[in-house]
Amino acid sequence: MIPASVIEDLKFRNSIEDVISSYVTLQRSGANLKGLCPFHSEKSPSFTVYTGDGHYYCFGCGAGGDVITFVMRMENLDYRASLDFLAQRCGVTLPDEDKQEKGGVSRTRVLEMNKTAARFFHKMLYTDEGSPGREYFMKRRLSGSTVKHFGLGYAPNSYDSLKRYLTDKGFTEEEMVAGYLCQRSRKNEKHIYDCFRNRVMFPIIDVAGNVVAFGGRVLDDSQPKYLNSADTPAFKKSRNLFALNYAKNSSEGSLILCEGYMDVIALHAAGFTNAVATLGTAITAEQARIMKKYTDKVVICYDSDEAGQKAADKAMRLLSEVDIAVRVLRIPGAKDPDEYIKNFGALQFREVLDNSKTPFDYKIFQVKSKYDMNDAEQKVRGAKELCRSIANIPSRVERDIYIKKVADALELSLESVKGEVASTLRRKNNERKKDERAELLRNTARLGDRVDPDFAKEKRSGSLEGAVLGMMLYRPEFIKLEREKDLLSPDCFYSELNRRLYVKMCEMQESGGFEFGLLAESFKIEEIGAFEAMIKKRRELSNNSEAAFLETVAELKREAERIKGRAEGEDLSDLIARRRLEKKDQ
Ligand code: CTP
Ligand code: MN
Repeated sequence: MIPASVIEDLKFRNSIEDVISSYVTLQRSGANLKGLCPFHSEKSPSFTVYTGDGHYYCFGCGAGGDVITFVMRMENLDYRASLDFLAQRCGVTLPDEDKQEKGGVSRTRVLEMNKTAARFFHKMLYTDEGSPGREYFMKRRLSGSTVKHFGLGYAPNSYDSLKRYLTDKGFTEEEMVAGYLCQRSRKNEKHIYDCFRNRVMFPIIDVAGNVVAFGGRVLDDSQPKYLNSADTPAFKKSRNLFALNYAKNSSEGSLILCEGYMDVIALHAAGFTNAVATLGTAITAEQARIMKKYTDKVVICYDSDEAGQKAADKAMRLLSEVDIAVRVLRIPGAKDPDEYIKNFGALQFREVLDNSKTPFDYKIFQVKSKYDMNDAEQKVRGAKELCRSIANIPSRVERDIYIKKVADALELSLESVKGEVASTLRRKNNERKKDERAELLRNTARLGDRVDPDFAKEKRSGSLEGAVLGMMLYRPEFIKLEREKDLLSPDCFYSELNRRLYVKMCEMQESGGFEFGLLAESFKIEEIGAFEAMIKKRRELSNNSEAAFLETVAELKREAERIKGRAEGEDLSDLIARRRLEKKDQ
């Protein structure tokens, strides 16, 4: 177990405000910060960060906790991994012993192994066994220096070449499996084999220069076209962008966002060294924020097929949300940027790039090519679609500008477009209010039942337990007080969840002191949310004095006695009922 003092230090170095604001745009609201909850979708902010004591709570969905639970939820990590995440973030190392015992594999080892594997794949290209890879890159017209620049490689058509190589270099099978370079055979658990076979290899390198993962492409048209490393201790897809390690140093002042590795490579080779790509997934909010760190302008350059265009819509939205000026590029006469450059050359591509459109102009362009503007009915549909987009824009000034644009582009009167936008806005507002109310009800009802099913059975006790525990969590000196005076015992708590929390608090108090961050080791993330809700209640009430605490404790004890008495009474009446039945049977 990691000691409380280490957790405290971690939390000190990773202030909750700092960590959360790299995922959520926060605005000051009195003493606290508010933003849109990253854990459920909402339009008005109910996610609150209490900078004073380092907690957060969402009034909408009930998610809550401290910076550790936040990272667990956000990054989908377990307790230990989220501690490692935070440690890495602030550049400290956590004691590693218990990890070795459990047989975990550290990030450092995975990174070392990846670097070794990348060298292996690359070296293969220059051997006889690697000729299929070499030929593939030649066919795609990649120069030798481009292949070197990106450290591309080839995974031979063999079940264990890499495994043998890595074994030679001192890596264990466990490490190979954890790093997703090898996998266990289904038939024979003891047997492991290479994940990537007969594929050209694209190492994914993070901004610090670590090889964090691999993408491997087949040499022909077979499926799956790409195999990508699964998330490992060293890697999370949603947090990395291909070629950002180079693009961040480009002098263009903008980034070009593509879909494929091959697009990025072709663009870099043609001199557009600011191109990046997501890793086989649609762009995430996190990637948008990462891009924002390096630039304020992004040109989206997705494939011209329908899937690419859909993906572009999402990218536009996510990038705009982090205040990046977005331009969208439509590639004329080619399926993707790679093909375009091969057919028309770099100069021509520069021109296309300079003619990229703002998202709204792009939308008008899309609508005009989707609908026949000479057909009245289709034109109406197109106009309505554009008005719906305008209604999504929060700024009134901007809306007015686009209203004029649409009127011009579709040759409609200003009044009619204005009227349509206004009525769409009204409708949306009503719907939104309804949705938000319904969602709030759903969330609060569901969450409570699921996390603490005992609450509904003994509501009075449940509230008292919540009040006592809430005060103890809010002012941990009450935990000390309770222990010194030995006021309560586990059986004062009717709810099983509350009892576990109480027992855990006592344990902590006796060994090194209470630390909220340690709770995440023993409780589920939803349970932590329920604890946070108890704190939230106490925060809202002004009376958290010692006198109030002692009084609530006394009341809880009385309530526990009452429930116990009643339970015994019930036992007795059960007994009588049974006797009666027995008599009847005789
Ligand atoms: N991708 C993936 N898995 C697949 C298909 C695609 O992970 N089965 C990801 C890859 O990151 C790929 C990107 O989606 O680079 C774009 O896909 P696609 O356009 O099909 O691939 P390209 O990289 O353009 O490859 P190519 O030009 O060789 O077809
Ligand atoms: Mn492609």
